[in-house]
Parts: sequence; C-alpha cells; structure tokens
Amino acid sequence: MAVQARARWQRARVVEVADAAEGVRRIVLEPEHPEHAAPGTHIDVETGSGARRVRSYSVVRSEDGGRRLTLSVQLSPTSRGGSAAMHRLRVADEVAVTGPLQNFPLAVGATRYVLVAGGIGVTALVAMASALRRRGADYELVLAGRSRAVMAYLDDLVAEHGDRVRVHVDDEGTSLAVGGLVAGIAQAPAAATTELYMCGPIGLMDAVSRTWAEHGLPTTNLRFETFGSSGRHPAEEFVVRLPQLDREITVAPDTSILDALAAAGVDTLSDCRKGECGLCLAKVVNSTGTIDHRDIFLSESQKERSSSLCLCVSRAAAGSGQARPAVLSLHLT
Ligand code: FES
Repeated sequence: MAVQARARWQRARVVEVADAAEGVRRIVLEPEHPEHAAPGTHIDVETGSGARRVRSYSVVRSEDGGRRLTLSVQLSPTSRGGSAAMHRLRVADEVAVTGPLQNFPLAVGATRYVLVAGGIGVTALVAMASALRRRGADYELVLAGRSRAVMAYLDDLVAEHGDRVRVHVDDEGTSLAVGGLVAGIAQAPAAATTELYMCGPIGLMDAVSRTWAEHGLPTTNLRFETFGSSGRHPAEEFVVRLPQLDREITVAPDTSILDALAAAGVDTLSDCRKGECGLCLAKVVNSTGTIDHRDIFLSESQKERSSSLCLCVSRAAAGSGQARPAVLSLHLT
C-alpha cells in the first residue's frame, strides 16, 4: 500500500461539534489551507500537550473544496490524550492538523465493490460509499457493530444507500459471518474483479484477509485502512526495556511505544504510524506478557513468532489478574 508523504501542518478551527453515536463525537473543522479530501483520505491531528501526540482520523465528509472537513472520533475508555482531547474540543477551539493524506484510495473500474465497516471503521467508508453511488457503481456496504446505539452514521447510510446496506448487530444476534460474506464474493460471477475495502477492528480485518486468501481471491483486490486502534487485549500500561541504551520506559494505556520513546528522547524511524509500512519495526528480545500485534504489516506466522513488532501500534499485555505490568525488552534497529 502506497504511503503518501506527510502534508504540511496547519491550524484548523472547530466550527461544529455534535454526538454521532454513543461515545462518538462528530467534529467539523475549517482548515487554514483548504484542500478537498478525496474518499479514503485521513488527516493527522496533534492532540494534547507534552509528548507529541498525533492521531489519524478519516475524513468522513469534505465540503466546499475542503473548507469544511468532518471527522468522527470514538472515545477510547483508556484515553487520557488522543480521543479524550478530541472529545473535549469545543466550537472556536483550534488544533494543528495536516492536509488530507491518502493511503486508502478508491480504485476506478472494479466490476463490483464491497465495503466492510466494523464499528468506528465506518468513518473511512462513508465518503467512499457516496462516491460509488454517484458513479452508479455496483456496490454493497456491510456495517457491523456491537449495538445500533454505538454505530455512527447508521441511519444516514441506510437513508442514502437503501438496500445496498447490510447491517449486522451483535446484540440483535445478527453478527457478521465473515466466512459467508467472503464465500458469497468468491462464488459470484464477478469474483475476480470484485474489490473489498474494509476498516474496523484488527480481528475483523484479520478474519477477512485470511478467508480472502483461503478462497484464492486476488490479494490486490483487498484494500484496508487501519488506524491501529484496536487489538486483541485491552490497552494497559507496560514497560519497555532497551538493553542497548540501558533505558526503561513506561508506556501508558493511551500512548504508543513510538510516542513513549519519542517523549523519552529516543529517536526511531516511522512513517505511516498505523501499522502498515513496517518502518518502525523493532526486534523483541523477550517479554513477560503477551504481545498484542495491532499491525497489518507482519504476517500471521511472524506475529506468532513475535520476534519483532511495530512500535507505532503494537503493545504488551500482562493479562487480567496480574499485579505487575508486562515488561517488553526490545532491540531498536
Ligand atoms: S510507522 Fe509504519 S508500521 Fe509503524
């Protein structure tokens, strides 16, 4: 997946805030240097003070040539910076943002498109679905969530896309069955020219990727956006040891290893900051806990071996009932 060069930083003014769902805030920004945000783009936002905190948010809507950019942010239960800071924003506040960054472009020319959104991942697909509708494309929008109350834009999307929307809600007993979804694509006449775009929890994206490969569907037709925001274990505090520098650094639940190292003055390479490019890979020397790989750069077998991890998204977890935080020894390359 191509990674676009960083856009310049600028100020943006908050012009609207509202609730988009339970725990999800819709925030409309007016950037200093407007630029239209194409479907699939995100912007980086600097949040909080002290350590440099950067979070990536999909542009849900770009209006008036990018003069109004709508984001939607889910409050993380463990957040003390990122999403909590975004939820504290009020009209007339200012934040530092980049212009639109494109890592998830919508291709032209597929026979059929399937968009799969898990939870807040819908924010990466709202503009894409609208673009497909305007193009008159053959598309389907699959929305999965824990309950309707937490699914942002659900009513708007059903109103806009009608029977092209499939809704799967865990607490209604209609959870998304990934096997059936992908088998349906594989058995359709247009299987080889159907593209699937997805954004959601890492477990959902792993399941779709694995099933996609099992059906022998072209890997280039599977596209995803990940902000490295969800893993298999709840985010908890842990300790990173760097034997080569004789340093020990604590990583708070709402901070990445990359940001914690930067705050401690340890420079490392990075680019995408969302587990896609692999530039931030570090070698794992050992770990007292479980490594929660939240990237989509390493293969499943590499994740099982856990001899390396992506500093920008992956974490360590001691597990429930453990009094001490996990300790992860790393060798920076
Ligand atoms: S910076 Fe790209 S995977 Fe970490």
